[in-house]
Amino acid sequence: MNVQWYPGHMTKAKRQMQEDIKLIDLIIELVDARVPLSSRNPDIDELGKNKSRLILLNKSDLADERQNEAWKTYFQAKGFYVVKVDSRNGSGMKAINNVIQEACKEKIERDRRRGIKNRPIRAMVVGIPNVGKSTFINTFAGRACAKTGNKPGVTKGKQWIRLNKGVELLDTPGILWPKFEDQQVGIRLACVGSIKDDILNMEELALWLIDYLRENYKGILAERYQITEEGTSVEVLEAIARARGCLKKQEELDYAKASLILFDDFRSGKMGRITLEWAPL
Ligand code: G4P
Repeated sequence: MNVQWYPGHMTKAKRQMQEDIKLIDLIIELVDARVPLSSRNPDIDELGKNKSRLILLNKSDLADERQNEAWKTYFQAKGFYVVKVDSRNGSGMKAINNVIQEACKEKIERDRRRGIKNRPIRAMVVGIPNVGKSTFINTFAGRACAKTGNKPGVTKGKQWIRLNKGVELLDTPGILWPKFEDQQVGIRLACVGSIKDDILNMEELALWLIDYLRENYKGILAERYQITEEGTSVEVLEAIARARGCLKKQEELDYAKASLILFDDFRSGKMGRITLEWAPL
């Protein structure tokens, strides 16, 4: 399958981010815990060099817990601070405050040596579309925080959200562009819903997901749909269509509808916690 997606305005977004990065101490990078590598753009490493770095494995509630731990270890070994979060229900938020202080301890120490007191740690959130940046900012900042806005020396219109423990967060996230190094990256991003469904062949994608699940999460489809997982992936999709009564007018099976059901179940976590990309050992 050939998944291609070239979002417009990326040059402008990149330029904006280069400007914003100059203003901050810490980059909070969100990735989708189900596809941690496919949902990150490593260009941020170059853009953000010399900055403290925190990776949030967001949507960790939907991902396989063993893999969450494996990915945490993987990124920590690369020198990132890492926290597993679920921005929708707020889990992991408390841990972030301490990790931010830890990640910025050199800056805090530098300020102290220079006699600078109470200069806030400034942070910005970055990530590719749909990883949960807005959800995270809303949950993390909470409702109690006032926007500080238009401080001297800050580009006009920039809004900072003042958080606890001397941290200020830029209220608009930096949008990174997905990097399609190989087709698998596009396919994984499509599966988690980060590429618009209407430009995809959902049925073909469903066959890919069926094969992946049969190989890595044996029995999960059988349990969800009360079907047998044997046979070709098309036969399994047929079985799902039958199990869920996906029929067209002439009693013909509706593969498109069955594919939508499969993706809805997968993306919402109804099928269980599933990771689509294994952490390199
Ligand atoms: P973005 O700014 O990075 O583009 O992402 P955004 O916050 O809009 O989040 C994209 C979708 O991911 C939203 O769902 C949001 O609710 C969901 N989401 C964000 N963080 C988490 C998380 O930690 N766990 C889970 N399970 N979901 C998360 P949506 O279906 O587009 O919207 P809605 O149904 O929530 O309104």
